[in-house]
Amino acid sequence: VNHLLGIKYLKTSDIKLIFETADQFKEVINRPIKKVPSLRDITIANLFFENSTRTKLSFELAEKRLSADVINFSAAQSSVKKGETLIDTVNNILSMKVDMVVMRHPSPGAGVFLSKHINASIVNAGDGAHEHPTQALLDSYSIREALGSVKGKNVVIVGDILHSRVALSNIYALKLQGANVMVCGPKTLLPKYIGDLGVKVETNLKKALDWCDVANMLRVQNERMDISYFPSTREYAQQYGVTKQLLDSLDKKITIMHPGPINRGVEITSEVADSDQSIILNQVENGVAIRMAVIYLLASKIKQ
Ligand code: CP
Repeated sequence: VNHLLGIKYLKTSDIKLIFETADQFKEVINRPIKKVPSLRDITIANLFFENSTRTKLSFELAEKRLSADVINFSAAQSSVKKGETLIDTVNNILSMKVDMVVMRHPSPGAGVFLSKHINASIVNAGDGAHEHPTQALLDSYSIREALGSVKGKNVVIVGDILHSRVALSNIYALKLQGANVMVCGPKTLLPKYIGDLGVKVETNLKKALDWCDVANMLRVQNERMDISYFPSTREYAQQYGVTKQLLDSLDKKITIMHPGPINRGVEITSEVADSDQSIILNQVENGVAIRMAVIYLLASKIKQ
């Protein structure tokens, strides 16, 4: 059975194939008829044990654009609340003849755990602070679209690296494609193992922005935060928030990204988020084509 559990398990050639497939689907979804019949015989369950707007809707739309049958599950309205286990929940859903599972879960490694107990393809839609592979793929795809390539670009990931699955998946994906990667944030929000990942580390935002071509601004994950980790939100915004004034002080025009949801006025001001340097909504648009590509490529293996 084939899965997408993390970027850690991919090769550079896998990312290239996903991007080339996404290029074709991007063209399809910009046509007046946005659907293809490719996955008429595939059924997909979207299992969300944690909140989501972008990932949940974009997976559902990607599946529907491919003509798959789709069922949606939110833990909050389910029998998980009555104590049903993850494996029981998923096996009950699979007995309804489901071929593929897209899962977001708060526990790191939930997808890997599930892959050892069920017989269906699994796509990780975010597992705790571990990985968010489709986010990293759509982020790199958006850099490729905006700047022509990922190879050789200086990309800084700014902010709450410690709690971020987006950071880890982006580091793996960017390095596989030959980008130079830096992380920047307060020491309290940088994991101890960060030096082992082969990235530059910087605590001064201005120096990081002077170095980079692209700044990927992470959300401060207040829901995963221990109060002792953190400067106050006000201090964070002062030291690590990107403002128009800061961007204008640089001697080049950098590209601003954010995976969403944004804490406006904390990681970036509204003026920056909505500026022509921001590709935040392009990232969201590209998420549909990337997820179509991932699902299509995995489903092709189910059908073999
Ligand atoms: N970027 C992202 O994962 O957003 P959601 O949590 O809204 O899915």
